[in-house]
Amino acid sequence: MARKGNRKIRLSDQRPPLLGGMLRTARLHLVPYRASMVQSHHVAWLNNHENVKYSEQRHLTHTVESQHSYLNEFPPGSYIWLIRSLGTFAAPPTDLGTITAYVDVPNKVANMGILIDQEHRGQGAAKEAWLRVEEFLKTIGIRKIECGCMSVNVGMAKLAQAVGLRVEGLRPEHFEWGGRRVAMTHYGKLI
Ligand SMILES: CC(C)(COP(=O)(O)OP(=O)(O)OC[C@H]1O[C@@H](n2cnc3c(N)ncnc32)[C@H](O)[C@@H]1OP(=O)(O)O)[C@@H](O)C(=O)NCCC(=O)NCCS
Repeated sequence: MARKGNRKIRLSDQRPPLLGGMLRTARLHLVPYRASMVQSHHVAWLNNHENVKYSEQRHLTHTVESQHSYLNEFPPGSYIWLIRSLGTFAAPPTDLGTITAYVDVPNKVANMGILIDQEHRGQGAAKEAWLRVEEFLKTIGIRKIECGCMSVNVGMAKLAQAVGLRVEGLRPEHFEWGGRRVAMTHYGKLI
């Protein structure tokens, strides 16, 4: 339940802001990502096998047009930010990846996803962006975040641990991956 003046309002009565605003951390800007901002290097991230090898995006070929459609059709009330370094992190200011939060309004739960381009990993960008988005989601009344990924995705498992997500379940043999079947690990955290 959120509070506005003296009046208690339910999250389901509120329309979450259609556009998440810009969020800032010590080293990053999280910029609401719109079709007009698409650059060829964003598309290149998605066509880089290393970046998407644990994602269903690996089955697709991406173009500027497909990225425009993805952003233009992004569900209202859910959020996607471009993760951009402020210059202290990687000089000059650089686009590092994206972070998403798909909001289930009635249950006040957000399903999060993140991609940091291979070149910019291992410097704490994902953790910094993730915790800032969590903080934002809390301010709009979200009470839980969740995330699902392939059990073989070590980077995501480590990030999950680093941001305090807990394993809530395993869906055995969920994905066909590189000639074998791998499980989906489901993570969650009350915020
Ligand atoms: C998962 C991913 C977002 C991590 O990005 P990153 O910027 O390298 O992560 P960070 O540097 O913020 O690391 C966060 C923590 O995880 C650990 N970590 C991250 N990747 C790791 C790896 N491959 N092996 C071991 N530890 C790793 C870091 O050491 C750090 O731990 P600490 O805070 O205890 O020191 C990145 O590897 C990625 O984009 N992968 C491809 C897309 C994907 O799989 N997304 C997840 C599905 S939603």
